[in-house]
Amino acid sequence: MATYGSPLYVYSRAEIEKNWHTFNDAFSNHPHLVCFAVKANSNLAVLNVLAKIGSGFDVVSRGELERVLAAGGQANRCVFSGVAKATDEIEYALEVGIRCFNVESSSELDRIESIANRLNAQAPISIRVNPDVDAKTHPYISTGLKENKFGVDINDAISLYEKANNSKYLDVQGLDCHIGSQITDVSPFLDALGKVLELIEELKTKGIEIAHLDLGGGIGIKYDNEQTIDVNAYIVSVLEKVGDLEIILEPGRAIVGNAGIFVTQVEFLKQNSEHSFAIIDGAMNDLLRPAFYSAYHQVLPVNENSNGTQANWDLVGPICETGDFLAKNRKLSLSEGDYLAIMSAGAYGFTMSSNYNSRPRVAEVIVSGDQHSLVRERETIQDLFNKEHLMND
Ligand code: LLP
Repeated sequence: MATYGSPLYVYSRAEIEKNWHTFNDAFSNHPHLVCFAVKANSNLAVLNVLAKIGSGFDVVSRGELERVLAAGGQANRCVFSGVAKATDEIEYALEVGIRCFNVESSSELDRIESIANRLNAQAPISIRVNPDVDAKTHPYISTGLKENKFGVDINDAISLYEKANNSKYLDVQGLDCHIGSQITDVSPFLDALGKVLELIEELKTKGIEIAHLDLGGGIGIKYDNEQTIDVNAYIVSVLEKVGDLEIILEPGRAIVGNAGIFVTQVEFLKQNSEHSFAIIDGAMNDLLRPAFYSAYHQVLPVNENSNGTQANWDLVGPICETGDFLAKNRKLSLSEGDYLAIMSAGAYGFTMSSNYNSRPRVAEVIVSGDQHSLVRERETIQDLFNKEHLMND
């Protein structure tokens, strides 16, 4: 902290690599590609660590794809997801040689086809089907139900595949589904798998061959003491059912979530008859998950403080919103100036951060063995408004 200041994200290279290998090794010789979901953590150095060990990537924007390429990743190991790919995004992805577009609607398929036609290219596609299974996770991160905006109704998928198969500008490669995030039980995944395998069989009877099945991401991690999915066992049970079909997975959180912490410092302690507030220098703009999803993150003191004030503390930030908290009711012994580690913050931490309240975004550091490197500088106040202009009059 003396070197980098507070607040700060800190990631472990060894943990990122270990988690990716857990996925990759479980496939053994079965054809597969583990595509890290860039939205979970898009720091260039994190992407570079993953690119170096052979990871593919799941991107949802041109920005993410350009990041991957800048970090040494390969376009032919990237799948492009997302419900509304813009024209320039599709052109760019085709030009750099994307592995596959995960198509989410009939209109999007038409757009991709007309761009491929204009560029005289063949666009590799897979249709994202919505298998209508309940992932039993937070409603904001559940995506596989009919009521969600994602994917194509499984009953409409066949006609889309027929359309794609008849186009000389579209190359049918795969079938895709993603049912939600932070899923802690394997059964919704296996239910979805059963449904998409039936669809693949049906497509075969119509002469449409599917070369890969992309099962998305969504594997939950431990934030507290919850039980979650054993990655190896999940992949083994998938492989038992899929024959020699190539499998793509798009894990984000399971690779980086528990490889990162958010470090924050106690500014003030403020107690009244009802509540004990520890006002910290980190806030909802730095780590949105608690405010947005009521998400739980463990809090550990960086150094044990036996002389502090023992209480059940609410950790609240400096932002002018009652929802600005990172944790509630945590039994800790605290003094002003103490550093706290907010655990499991490596996924959807920095990537969801903002400049709300004109707060510069924080620095990011990676620890590798006994080395530590600054992989993103803390923003300056000047950075916040150097693209703004006064009007002329
Ligand atoms: N593939 C697709 C198409 C996705 O939409 C997502 C996440 C993933 C893969 C990666 O899912 P993961 O393995 O990380 O669960 N901001 C929320 C999570 C939003 C997830 C959105 N999609 C959070 O902080 O919990």
